[in-house]
Amino acid sequence: MSVVKINVLTVPAEQRETLEQRFASRAGAVENSDGFEWFELLRPVEGTDQYLVYTRWRDEAAFQAWMEGPMKASHQGQGGGERPKPASSSAAVWTFEVVQQAAPPAPEGA
Ligand code: HEM
Repeated sequence: MSVVKINVLTVPAEQRETLEQRFASRAGAVENSDGFEWFELLRPVEGTDQYLVYTRWRDEAAFQAWMEGPMKASHQGQGGGERPKPASSSAAVWTFEVVQQAAPPAPEGA
């Protein structure tokens, strides 16, 4: 089963918009990586004020390969100049194994 890697970002209130815009401008950054399965940027509404960057991978090796290569490119500041100050004040990675999953049935005829 897949492995889930969640990057937990602490973001000051006044930096939220900047963070979301930076993610929006990096749409497409992981889609073509080998073993990539899913990405969601989760904005906190209740219970926490931390953003979650949810990613799911075929296995640990696929995640590690992304981290060592494409991840570095997709985390560069734009334009190659001086790196802009991060919108997040801290980041930590959580790792999970997917134990069970469910999805609605595919629509008739699909
Ligand atoms: C679990 C996988 C990931 C890890 C370990 C990771 C790592 C990090 C870290 C350490 C930061 C905060 C420091 C910084 O700003 O550079 C960050 C922010 C960011 N990451 Fe990731 N990331 C992951 C997934 C992704 C994905 C899939 C994307 C693109 C779709 C992405 C794009 C960004 C952007 C746009 C920021 C905001 C930079 C800011 O704070 O302004 N990250 N990531």
